[in-house]
Amino acid sequence: MTATAQSHDLETFLHKAETKTLRTGIIGLGYVGLPLAQLFASRGFNVIGFDIDESKIRKLINGESYIGHLPSAMIQQMRKDERFIAVSDFSQISNADTISICVPTPLDKTKQPDLTAVRMTAESMVDHLRPGQLVILESTTYPGTTTEVLVPILEKSGLKIGEELFVGYSPEREDPANPHFTARTIPKVVGANDPASRYALESFYATVFDQLVPVSSCEAAEMAKVLENIYRCVNIALVNEMKLLCQRMNLDIWEIVDAAKTKPFGFQAFYPGPGLGGHCIPIDPYYLSWKAREFDFSTRFIELAGEINTNMPYEVVSRLANSLGANGVCLNGARLLLLGLAYKKNVDDCRESPAIKILKILADRGARLSYYDPHVKGYVSHRYGKLPGNELQTLTQVALAEADGAVILTDHDAFDYDQIVKFSKLIVDTRNATRNVSQGREKIVLA
Ligand SMILES: NC(=O)c1ccc[n+]([C@@H]2O[C@H](COP(=O)([O-])OP(=O)(O)OC[C@H]3O[C@@H](n4cnc5c(N)ncnc54)[C@H](O)[C@@H]3O)[C@@H](O)[C@H]2O)c1
Repeated sequence: MTATAQSHDLETFLHKAETKTLRTGIIGLGYVGLPLAQLFASRGFNVIGFDIDESKIRKLINGESYIGHLPSAMIQQMRKDERFIAVSDFSQISNADTISICVPTPLDKTKQPDLTAVRMTAESMVDHLRPGQLVILESTTYPGTTTEVLVPILEKSGLKIGEELFVGYSPEREDPANPHFTARTIPKVVGANDPASRYALESFYATVFDQLVPVSSCEAAEMAKVLENIYRCVNIALVNEMKLLCQRMNLDIWEIVDAAKTKPFGFQAFYPGPGLGGHCIPIDPYYLSWKAREFDFSTRFIELAGEINTNMPYEVVSRLANSLGANGVCLNGARLLLLGLAYKKNVDDCRESPAIKILKILADRGARLSYYDPHVKGYVSHRYGKLPGNELQTLTQVALAEADGAVILTDHDAFDYDQIVKFSKLIVDTRNATRNVSQGREKIVLA
């Protein structure tokens, strides 16, 4: 786009991006939005955070974090530097030059995309939009959402997209608690459907992220994100299926993956587990399956992977029942200690966690349950309500020794695996977390 073709609104925006005087807005201050707010603030921008959850707003105003791996000190620093305010009042949207939307995109009961939060957000913004703002959808979703769902609502503002209001899509690739990458260093895919929006988006994000990956449209950026997650989902399903075959053949799948991954090209290691968890991998593939139907297209890999991964918690229970049986203990009435509730190591996020599913199946089968997660306290499941069984506040030798079996469901670093093996009668390990334990290995069953 040439300078003469630039609208006044775009010119003003670009000037503010260059001089770092943009006021950045973030809607949805969760696992994605709050770290993004921290990144924007650390890059010298003033941030207005929006959320409909008043309890989160109160905590943030008091300098308190509610995300395990994001320390409260970071929030306090942002507040002290006067770089961050948190509000639930959407009229403040007019004070933001950029608005990054990071709200949830779950599935409904029938596994169809539920875009209520995206729609609600757009509706709440529309009366407060003004010329010269950039709206970026960050939530993971199917290709077409920005154009077909977001833009029509934003257009109710009367602003002309691509001239007065700029709109783009840039997927989040946050990997909570990953020590090797931060939001800033993960390359950022950006897409927009008109030249001015593309220019605004790239100019802003070039000042925030180390590397941008521009693609030709919002749809391409949306599809790139779902492809990444489908790739993980399908490969995890493959290795989970291989695990079941290895169990039948009396082979150790972890040993085999470790050997295969020494090939310096053409193989990427994925690891088996008790099932899929988190807000992304179990959900996002179904967004694409749903959209594909509009094109008379059946996404068979996604369906097959979903089937295999969904079955994994039941496979763990079956292996546990057999292992207890070998010790002369019936699952119905067995005293079991479940270790780890979070969907992955070293985080406090239990969304879609297979550990919760397994806890529920075991309760239904009559097991007497205790559970412990050093990162999670007092968790109530949105699907099952209060969890069955007794939550332990600490993991004691007595609790391990009294149980008929301990089941490792999340491989948190905080667990002392030597002690767990030493004091337990049976350890069913779904993560190969006990790989370095040398004493008492005869009590370990990999599941
Ligand atoms: N968690 C991850 O690791 C991760 C990684 C990549 C992408 N994503 C995607 O990012 C998006 C957000 O995920 P998340 O994990 O941060 O979710 P989250 O549930 O942790 O946070 C979402 C926040 O949005 C708020 N919210 C809901 N509806 C709102 C509304 N109408 N207006 C304002 N705020 C609203 C909620 O109160 C919550 O604080 C999803 O699309 C998800 O798929 C998540």
